[in-house]
Order: sequence, then structure tokens, then C-alpha cells
Amino acid sequence: MNVDINNPWTWHWGSRYGESLKINIALQGYLAELIESGRLGHIVVDVGSGKSCPIKDVIRDTGARLINVDIAAHENLSNDSQLFIKLDAEKILDANSLEVKEAIKRVSRFLDIDCTKSKDVEPVDTFLLSEIINYIDYQAVIKSGLKWLKPGGRIVIINEPKRGLEDEFSDKGPINNNEVINFLESLGLVIEVADYTNSTANIKIPQALSMMVLVAQKK
Ligand SMILES: C[S@@+](CC[C@H](N)C(=O)[O-])C[C@H]1O[C@@H](n2cnc3c(N)ncnc32)[C@H](O)[C@@H]1O
Repeated sequence: MNVDINNPWTWHWGSRYGESLKINIALQGYLAELIESGRLGHIVVDVGSGKSCPIKDVIRDTGARLINVDIAAHENLSNDSQLFIKLDAEKILDANSLEVKEAIKRVSRFLDIDCTKSKDVEPVDTFLLSEIINYIDYQAVIKSGLKWLKPGGRIVIINEPKRGLEDEFSDKGPINNNEVINFLESLGLVIEVADYTNSTANIKIPQALSMMVLVAQKK
């Protein structure tokens, strides 16, 4: 693995971050059920995807078309089943920016759907945000992304409010898990699942600050 020490993202991008935890999350509980029953859908967008993550592997194995968006993405890793887009997720706040327009064109080609013309295209079945919301203005990003989510589609968030590279955290990241739930509900999303798990075996973390797997559905 090539690690550029001046760019902290390369640590996450290149490595399988929190692998055993992710394997548990992907293979057990509601998320596994969602994947196995096919309710995760055919078009999944993984925001802050990293390069390889067990959850992503499981999703890809279902045959879903996977669109990975990451600020440090290596776009040449794209193939027929998954697309990698190098993009700062916060850029989607400006739908007219060149980067976003270019990204939408690439997605259109990948999906063989013209996402550039109609304002009403809602192709995405599931948005996955795994260990990314601490680093971005997550409320603004989710609000902007919602227009691409199908009615009945889902947002899956996996996050622990204080876990990660704290120096890189956004001041618009979540203070605690309740804030995330309240925000999604304020957008009219229905919380299907909020599961809590300990990311660190020996330390008991209160529920509002522990690792959370959240599934919210757009009605
Ligand atoms: C903690 S890693 C999580 C990787 C993977 N989703 C996982 O759960 O293992 C955070 C990832 O978010 C990416 N990232 C950080 N800030 C970002 C931003 N503003 N836009 C898009 N990706 C970002 C990093 O490059 C990194 O790959």
C-alpha cells in the first residue's frame, strides 16, 4: 500500500478500516437482512467509500451497481460493477459546479440513464455513509443528496460520533447519535433501525455516542 503521510485520507482509503467490526455489521442484524432480501436495491451510492470495505464487498456480491464517492478515490479502479468517483462529498451542495456535472455524466454513463436532463430522476435505491459523517457537513450533504433517492429508498449510516481522525472532523459533524436521528426525521425519513454496538471491546460507551447502524427510509 502506498501511504502519503501528508494526506491522512490515504490511511483510510488504502486500508480496510475497522474490518472485523464491518464484517459483523455486514453479516449480522438488520443490514444483513436488508442485503439478503434484496431490499438494498440495485443502485447503491457509497459516500466516503474508501477503497475496500467488507460491507461494500457484500453489497457488490448482490449484483448491485455500486457508485463509490470518495475525496481520495482512484478512479481507475472503476469496472463494470462499480464506479469510483473522486469528489469531495460537500461539493454536491453546488449542483452547478463542474466537478458535480462531470460526476453526474460519469454516473449517467455507468448506469445508462441520463441523470443530467431531468430534475426528477431519482435513481438511487440506497445511500451508504459508513464512517464519513464525522468529516463532513452531513446535514447539508444528505439534504442535497435526497433528491436522487427513490421513494422507498434508504439511507444507511454507520458511525460513532468521536471515532476517527479527530483533527479532520468537520465542525458540522454530529454531536451525538440522537442528533442524527432527529435530523433524518425532520426530513420526513422514517427510521427503520437504530442498532448500537461497541466498537471497542473493553470500553463501555453510552448509546448516544456509540457505534450506530441507522437505516432510514424515504416515504
Ligand atoms: C473512516 S474512512 C471510511 C471508509 C469506509 N467507508 C469504511 O467504512 O471503511 C473515511 C473515508 O471518507 C473519505 N472522505 C473524507 N472526507 C471526505 C469528503 N469530504 N468527501 C468524500 N470522501 C471523504 C476518506 O478518503 C476515507 O476514505
